[in-house]
This record gives sequence, C-alpha cells and structure tokens, in this order.
Amino acid sequence: MKKVLVTGGAGFIGSNFIHYLLCGQKALELVVNLDALTYAGNLENLKEAEHDSRYRFVKGDIRDKELVGRLFATYDFDTVVNFAAESHVDRSIVEPEIFLTTNVIGTQTLLDAAKRQWKINPEDKYSREFRSGVRYLQVSTDEVYGALGKSGMFTETTPLSPNSPYSASKAGADFVVRAYHETYGMPVNITRCSNNYGPYQFPEKLIPLMIYNCLQNKMLPVYGDGMQIRDWLYVEDHCSAICTVLEKGKLGEVYNIGGNNEKANIEIVKLLLKTLNKGEELIAYVKDRPGHDRRYAIDNSKITSELGWAPAYSFEEGITKTIQWYLENQEWMERITSGVYQNYYASMYGGDKGGS
Ligand code: NAD
Ligand code: DAU
Repeated sequence: MKKVLVTGGAGFIGSNFIHYLLCGQKALELVVNLDALTYAGNLENLKEAEHDSRYRFVKGDIRDKELVGRLFATYDFDTVVNFAAESHVDRSIVEPEIFLTTNVIGTQTLLDAAKRQWKINPEDKYSREFRSGVRYLQVSTDEVYGALGKSGMFTETTPLSPNSPYSASKAGADFVVRAYHETYGMPVNITRCSNNYGPYQFPEKLIPLMIYNCLQNKMLPVYGDGMQIRDWLYVEDHCSAICTVLEKGKLGEVYNIGGNNEKANIEIVKLLLKTLNKGEELIAYVKDRPGHDRRYAIDNSKITSELGWAPAYSFEEGITKTIQWYLENQEWMERITSGVYQNYYASMYGGDKGGS
C-alpha cells in the first residue's frame, strides 16, 4: 500500500481514515482524496492533512469516467478504498435516485478505471493468480443483510436482503464488485461494518444529532419506540480493520467488521442526556422511519480469527472520547449547521475541475 486512492475522504469515515493512514502507514507515499464535496463532505475535517506532502485533494465525482481515468493514469494507484457514497437512510427514502447512481454506477466507474490501469486479465480468474500488489476495497455496510429478529448475528454468508433504497444501492454495489472479481479476476475485498461513531460525523446521524440538540436544548427525535438495536463501533477501529484487510485479507473475500456493542437507540439517547446533564423531558418520540430495520448485530469472528484484528476501544471509552470531541469542537458543528462551510466551498470549488 504505497499509492492510495481514497474516495469520499472528506466525509466522516473517509477523513478519519486519511488521518489514520498518514499517522500510521510508514510505507505510504501518496494518498489522493477524490471527493465531490456534497453536503456531507467537509474539507475542514482534513485541515491537518493539508500540510502533509503525501496528501492531495481532488474535487470530483466518482461517476466522472474521464476524471477517474486521468487520476489513475497520473498517479498509478496500487490501492483503492471506496468510501464515496450517499450514506443516509432517511435521505434515501426521500430521494433514492442519487443513491443508485453514486453508490452503484460510481463503484462500477472506479472498478473499470482500476481494471484498465492494472491491466487485469480475465484469465486470472481461472489461474487464481491475481495481480499482486494491487487491491480495490469496497467499504460496504451491515445494512445490506437486512434486519435481524431478537437473536442471531450477520455472518459473511447471510443472504443479502436490503430494506431501504440506501442499503439496496450498497448491496447493488457489492454485487458489482463481486462480479468484477468473478468475471475478470479483479483483486477485491468487501468490508461490511456496523454503525460507526466518533469525530467528524455529520449531524444528521443519531449520535452527533442528539449531542447537538442536547447542547441547543432542542428536542431529541426518537423514531418509533426507540427500541431498534444498532451495533456500535468507534470509527478508528473501523479504520484499523480496513488497513488489516488491505494488508492481510484474502482477495475476493468479504469481511464483516464490528465490536459486539449492541445498544437500543433509546439507551444511547439517555446516556447522552445524562452525560450532558440534560433531562429526559427533551426526548420526543416521533413517527417511525418507513421500513425501519429493527436490529443489526455483526458476527466478527472471521476478521478476528483469520486476520487477527480486534477493536481497541470499548463502547464506554469510544463514546467518552466522542462526546468530548463534540464538546471541544462546537464551532465545527456550528459552521456545518449554519451552512457557512457550504458557501465557502461554493466560492472556492464552484467550477467543474476542482483543486488539488
Ligand atoms: P459520509 O456521508 O459522511 O461521507 C460520504 C462522502 O462521500 C462525502 O465526503 C461526500 O462528499 C462523498 N461523496 C458523495 N457522493 C460522491 C460522489 N459521487 N463522488 C465523490 N464523492 C462523493 O459517509 P460515511 O458515514 O463517512 O460513510 C462512508 C462509507 O462507509 C459509505 O460508503 C457508507 O456506506 C459506509 N459505511 C458507513 C457506516 C457508518 O456508520 N457511517 C457504517 C458502515 C459503512
Ligand atoms: O449500520 C451501518 C449504517 O449505519 C451505515 O451503513 C449508514 O451509512 C449509517 O448512516 C448508519 O445507518 P443508520 O440508519 O443505522 O444510522 P442513523 O444514525 O441514521 O440511525 C441510527 C438509529 O437511530 C436508527 O435506528 C434510526 C434512529 N434514529 C436516527 C435519527 C437520525 C432516530 O431514532 N432518530 C433520529 O433522529
């Protein structure tokens, strides 16, 4: 892993991943961040990286064949980590189309460019001698498996059964990645992680939204009965798991990522209220999300036993660090919620070509 293309690197997990790479990967020569700077992309997340000579930012769309091809030809990446996506379930219910074009067609555009640049030979599929030293990693999600009842966990062989336009688009992308491996012998991995939390998460998602509303003394909108269960992982542990797969993962394999931290939404909301010294009268039970998945839980035994990965943070440590970060970075939150940063980007990067 020397020359890495990270897509969606200005978003929540992508920006944490770029920091993680720049701090921890000694062999790293270059990381190019290709990001369209949608509402969810925020270059402020990468202020420290800007001073690192190994880092470049390119504003652009993963669906832009010409741009993606040019980046491969210019930088000759050996590794691609695709985070770029429309990622919010609620938005996908209102506006599904962009989820399908970005998440499915964008993935296929990246795969095609990598296939061309890496001169992938379909015969590799039969010899199983995949071109060494190059790898495409698709950052997928546990949501592709659908919903669980009271018991059981998602394993890598659980059939895909997505319930929202978002998860359907992520499942579609996974199938395209799989097909490129099976048909052309593309050296790929797919990771499927549970819910992340940590610094730089856009405040439309449960934990940062609830922290923000607590600090503003606004109501905390809990969908339905609040008893839906999510399996939480601190974002840095997701980053370390991706690096583990890039280093040791068997090509063509899927790896689930999770830290065995199942919590009901209402439990999280009450914990945040208590930590921030606010009363439960701020809780507002609101109409449920349509098609709301009741429970997710990841069986992480494949990545832990075969690749030796383990999360470094307990939920208690992770959530304490996260709350602290949002308390110390209230201006970051203010700029996002006020739209100041969007206006700034429009003036800086308003044209088609973007900066680097
Ligand atoms: P995010 O919404 O915070 O960031 C997405 C980034 O992608 C943004 O910077 C955005 O500008 C960029 N982007 C969107 N469309 C683009 C396009 N067409 N071209 C280039 N860039 C584009 O998302 P996130 O929460 O950081 O999630 C990152 C990835 O991880 C997604 O693929 C998501 O499905 C997956 N994932 C997320 C979680 C989670 O809990 N957040 C868990 C598992 C998997
Ligand atoms: O499981 C991984 C997925 O986790 C990722 O693939 C998605 O990109 C990411 O957005 C996340 O999806 P969720 O739908 O689980 O996350 P969200 O933060 O939107 O919601 C978490 C839970 O909290 C879910 O059960 C819905 C509920 N919720 C959410 C919001 C925003 C509320 O009750 N109230 C809210 O206001």
